[in-house]
Amino acid sequence: MKIGVVGLGYVGLVTAGVLSFQGYDVIGIDIDENKINLLKNKRLPIYEPGLSEIIFSDKSKIYFTNSYEDLRDREIIFIAVPTPSVNNEIDLSYVVNASKSISSLNKNCTIVIRSTVVPGTAKKVMGLTNLNVISNPEFMREGNAVYDTLHPDRIVVGGKNAEIVANIWRFTNSPAIITTNENAELIKYASNSFLATKISFINEIANLCEKIPGCDIEIVAKGMGLDPRIGDKFLKAGLGFGGSCFPKDTKAIASFAESLKVELKIVKDAIEVNDERIQHAMEMIKESAANKDISVLGVAFKENTDDVRESRSLLLIKELIKNDYNVSYYDPVVKEEIENAYRCKTAEECIAKNENIVIATEWPLFREYERIMENKIVIDLRRILDHKKIKNYRGVGLGPKS
Ligand code: UDX
Repeated sequence: MKIGVVGLGYVGLVTAGVLSFQGYDVIGIDIDENKINLLKNKRLPIYEPGLSEIIFSDKSKIYFTNSYEDLRDREIIFIAVPTPSVNNEIDLSYVVNASKSISSLNKNCTIVIRSTVVPGTAKKVMGLTNLNVISNPEFMREGNAVYDTLHPDRIVVGGKNAEIVANIWRFTNSPAIITTNENAELIKYASNSFLATKISFINEIANLCEKIPGCDIEIVAKGMGLDPRIGDKFLKAGLGFGGSCFPKDTKAIASFAESLKVELKIVKDAIEVNDERIQHAMEMIKESAANKDISVLGVAFKENTDDVRESRSLLLIKELIKNDYNVSYYDPVVKEEIENAYRCKTAEECIAKNENIVIATEWPLFREYERIMENKIVIDLRRILDHKKIKNYRGVGLGPKS
């Protein structure tokens, strides 16, 4: 089967890489020329563990291009372009434009929407293109994207002849939900909103723990998570959720529901609780730091990625700068320069620079520096260190000593 993938961001590249590694003939297209040049030279435009090994493997049959012309002979074309949030609403223009470009050249293919889109989008694209459109949302986490695509918990496909796409993913041996376009589209939003709500819920309980002597959110979450009805995943209290999906998707589904005169109160509260995390962290820092010279560990929106989209850490750094803090920062993969802050070359340099250390991203690597932080003032916003080992420790969800 001849496959095309439009949009070579995290989702498109991983989809294209995994399918070509499984033996499919894949053409990947992106409008960004730099990206295509990098890929043609066997270099990845993003950091994603394990992706380079599969996408540039001799086993993979994949061709990268800027030209929609190259999609003329494709039977199945995945669309994995961005669906950004504009004024809290989803902007579908990239999906619409990509679909129109495809249909102007290829009248025989099936379009598969892999981007996250509000219910009704597939039908809309069908109307615009006269092509069959199948919905196939992805559920991969950045940093684990290759593993998640090879071993997904489930495959969700929706629309007429959706089995064709379910069959493409059959090698994963994962259970498949074959349904309508609209159900498939909503499953993605409901899943992401639920996970985001779980995070905001545990962050609220963490706020409570901080007021109760002897309480620790880590123990409370562990005790909750052992109940299989609750589950232990996504119960890690911290600085809140960031990234390219949760912040955008929660807002998009809330405003989509509003357009249908339905209020998603819980989702809206989850967004509000998440928005408050930065101020909450600022208060912790103001109360605990010895002065205004501060070292921040982590810039990525979470561990194992170079992505800073909606990164809580980045927002916190900007807020610190706004409040006249002198910020030094370090991230193992993000090399972005932040205006009015100093980028350290190593974690050791960053820790040595100041008495006050803030942990803002949950990189497990930072645990290796626990010993050299023992005598510092540590504000652990991701609860990755052992609080008993640090003399001056303040952590999210950790109550006063009883
Ligand atoms: C998410 C979904 O997990 C994935 O299924 C979907 O397809 C895309 O969106 P991703 O954005 O890559 O994936 O990251 P994820 O691992 O879900 O983390 C999102 C954010 O929540 C991060 O900022 C992370 O730090 C935060 N988080 C996650 C917590 O604060 N606590 C947790 O327990 C889990």
